[in-house]
Amino acid sequence: SRERIVLGIESSCDETGVGIVRIRHDGTLELLADEVASSVEEHARFGGVVPEVASRAHLEAMLPTMHRALGAAGVALKDVHSIAVTAGPGLAGALLVGVSAAKAYAAALGKPLYGVNHLAGHVAADTLEHGPLPSPCLALLVSGGHSSLLLVEDLAGKITEIGATVDDAAGEAYDKVARVLDLPYPGGPPIDKLAKQGNGCAIAFPRGLTGSRDAKYDFSFSGLKTAVARWVERCERSGEQVPVADVAASFQEAVADVLTAKAVRAAKDLGVDTLVISGGVAANSRLSALAAQRCEAAGIHLRVPRPRLCTDNGAMIAAVGAHLVAAGAEPSGLELATDPGLPV
Ligand code: KG4
Ligand code: ZN
Repeated sequence: SRERIVLGIESSCDETGVGIVRIRHDGTLELLADEVASSVEEHARFGGVVPEVASRAHLEAMLPTMHRALGAAGVALKDVHSIAVTAGPGLAGALLVGVSAAKAYAAALGKPLYGVNHLAGHVAADTLEHGPLPSPCLALLVSGGHSSLLLVEDLAGKITEIGATVDDAAGEAYDKVARVLDLPYPGGPPIDKLAKQGNGCAIAFPRGLTGSRDAKYDFSFSGLKTAVARWVERCERSGEQVPVADVAASFQEAVADVLTAKAVRAAKDLGVDTLVISGGVAANSRLSALAAQRCEAAGIHLRVPRPRLCTDNGAMIAAVGAHLVAAGAEPSGLELATDPGLPV
């Protein structure tokens, strides 16, 4: 079959991403460009993503990012076969910027348009580094906005959420705990660094939902965040110095423990032999080390894409688009709507 080029646009949160992939003759994907403009610094002083600020940043960054991606890939718009865009889940105003841009390009160029689920994108990111995924496989998606366990039977269609957080996302817990410890936003990288100097067994923070049978694949991080805040307050009230490195390491251990224990348990229960971890929190050093250890012990093949592909980007959206094109899926058409709460 003919080689086809798919362009992907991502704007669901605070990164404006444009990625370009080529579907090779053998059906595998080649990453041609992955350009991202982030507004994370504009949100830092608020300690979290401000939707209006994100939307405006997407509007400003969309065209320059598009041009950078086309330039990096050495591709002309006329050579693009189809356009994929994140339709949800995400911030309503932010999604509208990407979908409007994608519609404008699709209409002006007369190319097919595909609405893509952001979560499918995070899973598909791994295929750009490690090749096709076996079916079925299990995906643990951990970012600032999501913490889900997905059973992936087909990237172009069949993905089932078997578990999710009932409150905060894992990355959100990192960001909130960072605030408690007076560390900068986003909190993941500074906590990860500080934790290396601390003892992860120093404080026994709670492991949410590990005892309950009916939520065996679900997560809860808000109790953990509260427990850390209480612990720090107690130290401060009694005039003790807060052992910040031990707090960071113990918090990090609790998160990594719950995530890996539930993912490995789900893989075993469902008889799945491959686990993919993606999303911004997949960059966490303790999470990947513990996942590697527990997967090896359970005979599960672990795949973690490089950090650049774990965080939000347009290439992962192009990858899902490529799977849809290769599967002969029906394009969405220009009436494509955004859906901030789009389920998988
Ligand atoms: O996937 P991402 O870039 O954006 C979305 O939320 O969609 O994920 C960002 C999240 C933030 O909450 C950040 O604190 C967390 O990923 N993060 C980390 C690390 N690097 C980023 N969390 C733990 N350890 C890290 N090394
Ligand atoms: Zn994401």
